[in-house]
Amino acid sequence: MREIRCALHVQSVHSISLITQSEPMRSIVSQIDSISASDSSILLIGETGVGKELVAEYIHHTSVRSGNPFIKVGLAALPPDLLETELFGHAKGAYTSAVGEKKGLFELAHTGSIFLDDIDDFPILLQSKLLRVLESRELMRVGGTVAIPVDVRLITASKVDLKDLVNRGLFRADLFYRINVVPLVIPPLRERAGDVPLLVNHFLGRFSANGAPEIADDALRALVRYSWPGNIRELRNTMQRITLFARGKIALSDLPPEIREENPLELMIKACNRCFAEGKMSFDEVVTCLEKNLIRGALKEATGNRSHAARILGMNLSTLRDKLKKYNLPDEA
Ligand SMILES: Nc1ncnc2c1ncn2[C@@H]1O[C@H](COP(=O)(O)OP(=O)(O)O)[C@@H](O)[C@H]1O
Ligand SMILES: [Mg+2]
Repeated sequence: MREIRCALHVQSVHSISLITQSEPMRSIVSQIDSISASDSSILLIGETGVGKELVAEYIHHTSVRSGNPFIKVGLAALPPDLLETELFGHAKGAYTSAVGEKKGLFELAHTGSIFLDDIDDFPILLQSKLLRVLESRELMRVGGTVAIPVDVRLITASKVDLKDLVNRGLFRADLFYRINVVPLVIPPLRERAGDVPLLVNHFLGRFSANGAPEIADDALRALVRYSWPGNIRELRNTMQRITLFARGKIALSDLPPEIREENPLELMIKACNRCFAEGKMSFDEVVTCLEKNLIRGALKEATGNRSHAARILGMNLSTLRDKLKKYNLPDEA
């Protein structure tokens, strides 16, 4: 039974296994498949841990460029003063320490794809250079004098709404339009709880020596109900920990306390706290995640009535409206 479901709902390519049971994930895969022959830029939008990097890999490996290089760049992890030479390279003697010349990541990605993760962290001062390279399809190394042609397909990922950054003057509008040709929103796991059982099975199987162990019904229900603030990354790590300690069939008591607990608000706050303490989410991400969840919860309780939801939250209707707009939240949660 499991094999049949897996065959239907796992896209496997190049050792990438992308679980796609829920409607939003299947729609994302079908959009990717329909543009696999094109070079259009793709912007992946979603909270941390929803699978942006995995989807970027899937995009490259199913595209016509799959035999060519795929370069991943974690922009949040690169110090801003190194970023320019890392991306665009430098000529010999560009700095006192630049004894040789160095190819940048764009040159290394030539004929293939480049994945710029955390594009929302891209420094505004370098944005015009990035735009120039994308538009002209050639680059100049730092301190260099010759234009070098680069043929690269661009995939970017953002954990926030880039339009909001554009409105606040933190992101160039022209660059935004250049990278936002095909935007794909990857929903958080709590909005596609239907993927949870298959993901649980997938990771239990991956982390156990003898295939996925059985799991008790109440344990699986608790996993489906949990809000997963760290999304699939959190689920994956949880399954890894469980397989280390569980013996035989997995019971409710084998799950971490925050997943076993019933109170959704308490559960959410604790999970956020843990994500923060374990460094899985930054302060801003935790605050955003909590805020969005509280608003969603209130809207649900108020069956979509904004005034009522604002009263539950103890905030002005106009504040609630601003937040709904900022987070791009639908009325009905
Ligand atoms: N649909 C999916 N199916 C299987 N594994 C997934 C899926 N989405 C994410 N993962 C796994 O979850 C973890 C986090 O995904 P990642 O792509 O790094 O998220 P993000 O880049 O959005 O933070 C990785 O181990 C990834 O392989
Ligand atoms: Mg990531």
